[in-house]
Amino acid sequence: MILGRPLNEDMQLRPIKYQWAYDLYNQAVANTWFPHEISLGEDLEDFKKMSEDERHAVSFLMSFFNPAELIVNRSLALGVYPYLKAPETHLYLAKQMWEEANHSMAFEYVLETFPLDREVIFKRHRETPSIKAKEDYITKFTQRMTENLDIETLEGKKDFVRNLIAYNIVMEGVWFYSGFMVALSFRQKQQLKNFASMIDWVVRDESLHLKFGINLILTILEENPDLSTPEFAAEIKNMVIEAVEMEVAYNNDMFPRGILGLNADYVNQYVRYIADRRLEELGFEPHYNDANPAQWMATETDTLQLVNFFETQNTNYEVNNRAHK
Ligand SMILES: [Fe+2]
Ligand SMILES: [Fe+2]
Repeated sequence: MILGRPLNEDMQLRPIKYQWAYDLYNQAVANTWFPHEISLGEDLEDFKKMSEDERHAVSFLMSFFNPAELIVNRSLALGVYPYLKAPETHLYLAKQMWEEANHSMAFEYVLETFPLDREVIFKRHRETPSIKAKEDYITKFTQRMTENLDIETLEGKKDFVRNLIAYNIVMEGVWFYSGFMVALSFRQKQQLKNFASMIDWVVRDESLHLKFGINLILTILEENPDLSTPEFAAEIKNMVIEAVEMEVAYNNDMFPRGILGLNADYVNQYVRYIADRRLEELGFEPHYNDANPAQWMATETDTLQLVNFFETQNTNYEVNNRAHK
């Protein structure tokens, strides 16, 4: 059983029980990157020429993303790591936690480079209701993991899965992809190209985080058939639908007027499209049936490409053979 309080008896890597976790660890190590290897000089020039609304979108993204990386780490440290027995999952989570720290430092680097008001950006994530609602949603599920949770009980296992759905499927799998799409859309307009390369690296990491989370959920469901009830399935699906509604409110604040080629409706259609992909990965039918409005994402960071990325050796991204676009 993958779920349970890890004991010293469990701290022996071999024989490996969950090969997918071990493989993901090795893939994550091969995908190691460092933000300061990407020069943002040209992007600073682009930023200076951008409209007020475009700058608002970039700074609004920073307000959500910078703390969000650390919120994911708190969910992993308090809500995931202490309840998994297999050492190969601990290896992977240690690497993922470094990656979230690295993402946080990457966004710090952007904040240091662009003329953005750090005070405004940091305050905004607690003072803007649509961002605060997203953070509080995640925190609510992580909090439960720290309060007298017994992982051997059915309710304890359900709380584990709820927290996993919240930080992994919702935060990393839907909300982050919504933000990635906005960030990468500037490259479509020949702007912020190096910032986009940085986001490409983040997406590669996040695609592995998602793969780990989905494998973990499916393993837990397989090992604990008592979790597979229609009521619990409906609850999980509703968590994703509620998260889409929260993202719609957030995107409306990001684009009060819309900017060239990008507005809240367009991004929200992508959010519904990506939420359907996540539902399918969990074994549900799609809920929204929207087409992908951002076909250009398919060439760079689409889910299909991410699946290929996972299955191949992805030699393009090896540490010793890296080439930034
Ligand atoms: Fe991250
Ligand atoms: Fe992540």
